Amino acid sequence: MIITVDGPAAAGKGELTQRLAAHFGYARLDTGKLYRAVGLKVLGAGGDPEDEAAAVEAARALTGDDLEAPGLRSEDAALSASKVAAIPAVRDVLLEFQRGFAAAPPGGAEGAVFDGRDTGTVVIPDAPAKLFLTASPEVRATRRVKQLQEQGTEAIYGRVLQELKERDARDTSRKVAPLKPAEDALVIDPSHLDADAVYAAALEFISAKAPD
Ligand code: C5P
Repeated sequence: MIITVDGPAAAGKGELTQRLAAHFGYARLDTGKLYRAVGLKVLGAGGDPEDEAAAVEAARALTGDDLEAPGLRSEDAALSASKVAAIPAVRDVLLEFQRGFAAAPPGGAEGAVFDGRDTGTVVIPDAPAKLFLTASPEVRATRRVKQLQEQGTEAIYGRVLQELKERDARDTSRKVAPLKPAEDALVIDPSHLDADAVYAAALEFISAKAPD
């Protein structure tokens, strides 16, 4: 069983996918982490994330340690991720890894929950249950600022909003695997729903798609 949860940054995909993975006992793959790790690896080597050769080399050389690199959640990592993510050859390298994860979820799990941008449209197009979480950039920026403050990180609303808009623009306009809901995805706007209501709606949808 594969569940995909796509959508723009700070829409609540992380929390929802963690809850779903725990509920079903499935493995979870945060696909954004792969792109962030590639972006940071290029930056760390002094390269430009828009340089195709450097980005592809970093994607091919990605290790488990890169996926645990400090700074993965930083704004630099996010922006460089959205730059390497626009390069088709980088996406091809990461696609292979993601499909391998779906085919044989780690730990012998009977399913996997994907968190990303294109996991329902491109990575696992035949996934039985697809969700798409989205909300306005303003709602998402407010949410992200709160999250950062709770972690003790200083955050300026205007800056966070600008960064989200910049990434949204790059993610939705790129030629390959642009951010958009799959035709058969349940689209949830959590603007006026709390996390429990989003989770309940997701569970209901998934149960209808894959009755046991
Ligand atoms: O979800 P997260 O904020 O970690 O993603 C970082 C960036 O990685 C996104 O802005 C997007 O450009 C890219 N990404 C992608 N496809 C995915 C997941 C992330 O292009 N499936």
